[in-house]
Amino acid sequence: MKRELKITADGSSTLYIPEMDENYHSDHGALQEAMHVFIENGLNTIESDQISVFEMGFGTGLNALLTSIQSKKLQKHISYVGIEAFPVSAEHISEINYIELVGEEHAVDFQQMHQSNWNEKITINHNFDFTKIHEKIEDYSIPKNEFDLIYFDAFGPRAQASMWEISILEKMHKGLKLGGILVTYCAQGQFKRNLKSLGFEVIPLPGPPGKREMTKGVKK
Ligand SMILES: C[S@@+](CC[C@H](N)C(=O)[O-])C[C@H]1O[C@@H](n2cnc3c(N)ncnc32)[C@H](O)[C@@H]1O
Repeated sequence: MKRELKITADGSSTLYIPEMDENYHSDHGALQEAMHVFIENGLNTIESDQISVFEMGFGTGLNALLTSIQSKKLQKHISYVGIEAFPVSAEHISEINYIELVGEEHAVDFQQMHQSNWNEKITINHNFDFTKIHEKIEDYSIPKNEFDLIYFDAFGPRAQASMWEISILEKMHKGLKLGGILVTYCAQGQFKRNLKSLGFEVIPLPGPPGKREMTKGVKK
């Protein structure tokens, strides 16, 4: 699948897939979007000092990088699992500019995430354990009641509708602990109805710059 490097409105990189006419992040700002949706409305809302996070769509690793940085700031221990069926090439990873934006001191952690073996848990630093799984979410057997937080960062429903259907969302529900939360940039009506039908409490929240709304789902 062909991918092109792009710069978004806040100066941070993203990748664009011409075949799908779809970006990895918002054109309005990749870094801003990730901070708003996943860190501020996801990670920062969890009270526990030990947090397990599952990411649907590891991609460039931006969300994992920001989460590892935040784990140090919050002085919390995070176990992070990201699934990715179609890994980004090492060449594209070397071209994205996240480290320039977040600080050189995070370069080694980011490199370790990308250079680690698939399906092998590693310790990035004493606050952050990391596993990336090379598998399609459709085939992944998610551990039951394991995660406090899910970053649901699939391509949008227009580009990849199947990711937002009940069968995948049911898996996310199964993987969450009771009271655990799923956050995503998406606010599509059908997606929110699907969450509700699975027993999530659906909480619409203001979106990142350029987007009216995002969604938080709480497992009840
Ligand atoms: C919106 S992008 C993720 C962006 C990523 N979180 C980041 O910060 O770069 C969606 C990701 O889902 C991955 N993906 C697509 N279909 C998938 C599937 N069936 N199972 C697992 N991952 C999939 C894509 O390859 C892509 O990396």
